[in-house]
Amino acid sequence: MEDKKRVLVIFGGQSSEHEVSRISATSILKNINREKFEVVMMGITKDGKWLPYNGDIDKIPSGEWEQIALGENIKGIGTKSSLLDAMVVCNDTDKNIEKSGETQVNGKKIDVVFPVLHGCNGEDGTIQGLFELASVPYVGCGVLGSALGMDKIYAKIIFEKAGIPQADYLYFTRKEIGRNIDRVISKIEEKFAYPIFVKPSNAGSSVGVSKAHDRDELERGLNLAARFDRKVLIEEFINGREVECAVLGNDDPEASTVGEVVPGNEFYDYKAKYIDNSSKIKVPADLPKETVEEIRGYAVKAFKALDCCGLARVDFFVHKETGKVYINEINTMPGFTSISMYPMLWEASGVPYGELIERLINLAIERYEDNSRDING
Ligand SMILES: Nc1ncnc2c1ncn2[C@@H]1O[C@H](COP(=O)(O)OP(=O)(O)O)[C@@H](O)[C@H]1O
Ligand SMILES: [Mg+2]
Repeated sequence: MEDKKRVLVIFGGQSSEHEVSRISATSILKNINREKFEVVMMGITKDGKWLPYNGDIDKIPSGEWEQIALGENIKGIGTKSSLLDAMVVCNDTDKNIEKSGETQVNGKKIDVVFPVLHGCNGEDGTIQGLFELASVPYVGCGVLGSALGMDKIYAKIIFEKAGIPQADYLYFTRKEIGRNIDRVISKIEEKFAYPIFVKPSNAGSSVGVSKAHDRDELERGLNLAARFDRKVLIEEFINGREVECAVLGNDDPEASTVGEVVPGNEFYDYKAKYIDNSSKIKVPADLPKETVEEIRGYAVKAFKALDCCGLARVDFFVHKETGKVYINEINTMPGFTSISMYPMLWEASGVPYGELIERLINLAIERYEDNSRDING
C-alpha cells in the first residue's frame, strides 16, 4: 500500500480545448487504478488560476468544479504570475517550504504529473518546461517533442527530412500577410490550384483552419488563420480518407492498429468534431493490410523524428484515388475520453483503457530516470 504512486492529474488549461480536456481528464480519473495510484487533482481555469480540487469528479465536465475549488482554497494558488508556486505549492503551512525541491500540492509530494491538457499552453512544451524546472516526471512528450508536434510548419520541415510523404506546403508570417496580401496570394496561386487549405501553424481542433475554393476565400482564410497564430501554413488539398494511428512508448515506441474518421462536414472542422456529432469513427479502418503497415511504420518514424515520448496520435490521409499515404499531423496529447480515437485504438490492439493509463505513468517515470544529467562537469 505504501508504494502507491501519487499522481497529479491536471485538467482544463488556458486553451481553446479547455472543455475537451475536462472530459478527457474525467475519463482518466474514473479509470485510473486506485489500488496502484493515489490521485491528486488540479484544474487550471481559462484565465490561468491553478486550483487544487478535492471534489466530485462528475462536476469536472460541466465546469462546476471551478466554483467548488475556489471555495475550498485556503490561499489563492498560483496565478499566472506565480506558476512555479503552483508546482511547489505551499498552501497548507509554511513548513513545506523547507522541503523545496519536492513538487507538492496541498502538502502532498507528487510522484508523477499527468497533464491532460490539449492545445496551446498544455500540449506545446510550455507546461512541460515547468515540469522540467520542478524536476518532476510527467506523462507525454517533453519540451521539444511537444513544441514540434504543436507547430505544424516545423513538424512538416522535420517530416520532410525524415522522408515521410505529406501535402506540399508554403508558409507566411502574419506580418507578410498584413503588409502585402496580394503578393502572398500570387505566390500561393503560382504553386497551387484550388481548393487550398489554410491553417494557423499552432492551433488545434480545426480552429482557424479553412478550405479555400477561390481567391476570395483564400484571402479570408489567410486573415482568419493569422488571427490565431503568427505563422500561417498553406497546403495543397489532399482528397483523402482520414486515418489515425496511436503510438505508445519511449525509445522503442509501438504503433496501434489504424482507425478512420469519417467527417460529417466537407472537412473535419470544429463543428464536425464537437458540435453536430455527425462524424463517425471506425476502428479498425477498412484498409488493405499493406496500407495499414505503411501507416504504422510512418507513425513510429514521425514519433521518433519529432523526439516524442510517451504517447502521440499520428493522423494521415489515404488518397481516395491513388491509395497513397500522406502524413497530416501529430497530436502529442490526443483526446482521451473512453470513446476517443487514441484509447479506442489501443483497446482494439489489446491494451485496455486502465492499463493504458498505467503504462503511460510508468513510461513517464522511466523517461525521467533516463533523462538524468550530470551537471557537475
Ligand atoms: N491538406 C489537406 N487536404 C485535405 N484536408 C485537409 C488538409 N489539411 C487539413 N484538412 C482537413 O482539416 C482538418 C483539420 O486540419 P488539421 O491539420 O488536422 O488541424 P487540427 O490540428 O486543427 O486538427 C483535417 O482533419 C482535415 O479534415
Ligand atoms: Mg487534426
